[in-house]
Amino acid sequence: MAAPTNQAAWLMKANTPLQVGDAPLPTAGPGKLVVKNAAIAINPLDCHMQDSGVFVQQWPTIFGCDVAGEVYEVGPDVQRFKKGDRIIGHAINLVSGSPQDGAFALYTVIPADKAAILPDAIPFTDGVVVPMALEAAVCVLSLKVPGVAMPGIPTPALGLPYPSLQHPVLSLGKTLVVYGGSSSVGSMTTQLATAAGIDVISIASTHNFDFSKRCGAVQVFDYKDPSVADKVIEAVGKTGQHDFIGIFDAIATPETYAHGLAILAKLGGGHLACVHPPPAEVPANVKAGMIFAVNDVATPVWRDYVTPALQAGKLQCLPPRTIVGKGLEHIQSALKQSKAGVSATKLVVEL
Ligand SMILES: NC(=O)c1ccc[n+]([C@@H]2O[C@H](COP(=O)([O-])OP(=O)(O)OC[C@H]3O[C@@H](n4cnc5c(N)ncnc54)[C@H](OP(=O)(O)O)[C@@H]3O)[C@@H](O)[C@H]2O)c1
Repeated sequence: MAAPTNQAAWLMKANTPLQVGDAPLPTAGPGKLVVKNAAIAINPLDCHMQDSGVFVQQWPTIFGCDVAGEVYEVGPDVQRFKKGDRIIGHAINLVSGSPQDGAFALYTVIPADKAAILPDAIPFTDGVVVPMALEAAVCVLSLKVPGVAMPGIPTPALGLPYPSLQHPVLSLGKTLVVYGGSSSVGSMTTQLATAAGIDVISIASTHNFDFSKRCGAVQVFDYKDPSVADKVIEAVGKTGQHDFIGIFDAIATPETYAHGLAILAKLGGGHLACVHPPPAEVPANVKAGMIFAVNDVATPVWRDYVTPALQAGKLQCLPPRTIVGKGLEHIQSALKQSKAGVSATKLVVEL
């Protein structure tokens, strides 16, 4: 049988539309899988990469982080997967710079330790919302020692346990505030923290209160309420004996930083984990850092948690997907839609 042909949505240079064209069919080296993609998802990072060329190491490039599909080829030493397995996975062109590691193609190379079997009952278009957000959430919660997110900017190191398959999970007696509970990364962090036994108090818009609670938040406050910081302070205060961990800011704007620092000031400090560089000046009792969502800290979660948790409904494919279209040519319009902003949904393109 003739080898299949690959195609990709290529970025030829920064700030130009993607161009669909032929691409080499990749092969799976050690520790790697080639995935025949059935669906890809869009992340805000993709828009930054297209607009500015940030993180691009080689032109032209293929980028994109989230894939779902069937294993087409298994690297020589990979034991956990076989050809034909239905999987989701995190593509890491962001760090490798190699076009074959970008999601926006019919075939993509991913590390086997950033992949998990997708249960048969879950469509690829649902499962594909998970990978990047999952790895980001683990980076928020479970790093024990600060690394380097960017020159001069440490990663947060909250040192919290991984999510557990136990039901009900044992409470750790700790509270985390998630600012942006309806965002993709914020909602996944809420799910994983809850599954680790941590109480999450979330900040989201009123129309996404139910969504944030579905992810596990015990209380949700309106980010448009001018007294949101006071309300969060009061709610954390009422948790009594609970340790206050700090804030995960999944939005990271001057306004969220101002509220976050006000909350931390009243509650004796704590972590301020951010998705972008944190405020330059923070009080001594605030440990501020920026996540970098490609990290081996996520390997045990990919290996031991994702598939059984999906199977049990403990890990939900949230936020729910919006399918933009079918075919690589729809990725460009999906990126445009992402730039315009989404509310508690992840944009997905079927392939
Ligand atoms: N450093 C890293 O490694 C890393 C990794 C992943 C993502 N990121 C960054 O993290 C950010 C979030 O990404 P994402 O994919 O999770 O975003 P997303 O899903 O696109 O975020 C959209 C959500 O943000 C909510 N939102 C907007 N402004 C808010 C505010 N002031 N307070 C509370 N919620 C607010 C919106 O709520 P409503 O619609 O309800 O108003 C909406 O539901 C992006 O900037 C991304 O680039 C960084």
